[in-house]
Amino acid sequence: MMGSGVELIDRAEAAARLPQFGALLTMALAAQGHARAPYSRFEVGAAILGGSGAAFPGCNVESASYGATICAERAAVVGAVAGGETTIRACVVVTPTAEPSSPCGICRQFLAEFGRDVLVFAASSLSDSVYVARIGDLLPLSFESRNLADAASAPDAS
Ligand code: THU
Repeated sequence: MMGSGVELIDRAEAAARLPQFGALLTMALAAQGHARAPYSRFEVGAAILGGSGAAFPGCNVESASYGATICAERAAVVGAVAGGETTIRACVVVTPTAEPSSPCGICRQFLAEFGRDVLVFAASSLSDSVYVARIGDLLPLSFESRNLADAASAPDAS
């Protein structure tokens, strides 16, 4: 344990933690091969395990208007929701860095929408290393729907 609930493990241990890890990793690696990253050349693949047990791929798709770029993790979440999933159990993301790169802040926020227990496996296409953490540990005190509800029920301050 590295503190903050993040653990550095290997692919075998990841498969021991989540039986679908191997299939999700294979899907994420295939998606990484489809990444559209002509500007950064940083190709990322992801796979989401939906509550139904189905899996959905995603890759980063960059735009000449850089800010319009979508990350692999969010692309996979969008695919899962479009495929009918209402809950998400896990996200596997693969980056071309020997030390796995964990999801960016926007993707953490996007994944946290599905609850603090979503398991994130950050894997590498260059090594056996995997970071695993609950999204709630990667993004403590995230902005949530209850914050919006609080504001709606708060007395009018004006
Ligand atoms: N990227 C992802 O797809 N996921 C992440 O978690 C981090 C970054 C993409 C966005 C961009 O296309 C490229 O990697 C470099 O930032």
